[in-house]
Amino acid sequence: MQEELELFAACAPGLEPLLAGELTRLGATPQVVPGGVEFTGSRELLGCALRWLGTASHVLRRCDKFRCRALGELERKVAELDPAGWLPRGQTFHVRASARHSRVYHTSAIERHFRAGLARALEDPRQAEEPPRDAELPCYAVRFFSDVCTISLDPAATPLHRRGYRLAMGKAPLREDLAHALVLASGWRDDEAFFDPFCGSGTIAIEAARLAHGIAPGALRAPVLPEGTPGPSFAPPRTGPIRASDRDELSAEHARANAERAGVAAHLEVRASAFSAHPWLAKPQDAPERGVLVCNPPFGKRIAGGGDLRVLYQSLGHRFQQLGPGWRLVLLAHDLRLARAVGVPLKRLFTTRHGGLAVSALGSAPA
Ligand SMILES: C[S@@+](CC[C@H](N)C(=O)[O-])C[C@H]1O[C@@H](n2cnc3c(N)ncnc32)[C@H](O)[C@@H]1O
Repeated sequence: MQEELELFAACAPGLEPLLAGELTRLGATPQVVPGGVEFTGSRELLGCALRWLGTASHVLRRCDKFRCRALGELERKVAELDPAGWLPRGQTFHVRASARHSRVYHTSAIERHFRAGLARALEDPRQAEEPPRDAELPCYAVRFFSDVCTISLDPAATPLHRRGYRLAMGKAPLREDLAHALVLASGWRDDEAFFDPFCGSGTIAIEAARLAHGIAPGALRAPVLPEGTPGPSFAPPRTGPIRASDRDELSAEHARANAERAGVAAHLEVRASAFSAHPWLAKPQDAPERGVLVCNPPFGKRIAGGGDLRVLYQSLGHRFQQLGPGWRLVLLAHDLRLARAVGVPLKRLFTTRHGGLAVSALGSAPA
């Protein structure tokens, strides 16, 4: 019989409902909790989640849980576990401990005793030695709370939002999981155009193009587990054109190079142009009839643009309205008063954090 694993997908605060939607599409029955989603499933589902989730930052497997009040007891109990199926044999790992309201509280001692116990359970004394701190390795999380020790494993060596394609970037790039969340929250449909006129390193449009063409968010990452099932079944690729632009030549070049690495250069046209000069906004009569404009315009906090941002937002709103009723606007905003300058009624889609700031995704009503 297939082993049923207890799993937890973690995400940035505010993205939980979108992550739950992704897990449902993978066939799981997700339970939303603050900071992520709990679910159960097979090893194949775990492999699938690691590869296909676009809004998760980590997927953890719960390994064990027991009462424990002393470091010696921890080492002994861990030595009695059966960790054979947790990681491939010989795979080295990091250990991170945390402790609250517990008799055992010294986190480096917890890490040492856990490692010593696990090396015994694995019958591999080399695992008692700590690997170099900066090595990218799977990580055991050992958490003490009220004298209960919970052991979880993050099989991925780096956070899942590091997709591996964004090697070129400007000053304020959006994390890939947040860009993915914006695309999902926009409700972009198969036959609609997609447009980001403030594309920077291209993250939003690249996530959209990968989603549309069935490229897994983790496609460029080394697989950490046998993958099993192929993931969500995709309808034929979407037909709506995908465009991105930025007034900064270098950003447009970065976006093109990133799109190439992400495997979507053929599906995404990137231009160097001010938003108002992009053909779809300069001559809206030539733009597709239906589409979504999804963007992360300058906030005025992190990049010094000079000029009056209110005027930029007003002009964006004006140009957007010229596109006609078949278009929706989604933007990521830090300053809600500034966002309101677009002059289009916007409702909040989600709120999260980006670069230390609270940010909200705001969207106009569906056509
Ligand atoms: C917050 S950044 C976007 C970051 C992007 N989402 C990413 O992942 O890299 C805003 C971008 O807007 C561009 N920008 C500022 N004013 C512009 C304008 N008038 N027309 C077009 N792009 C503009 C900047 O060059 C910058 O790359």
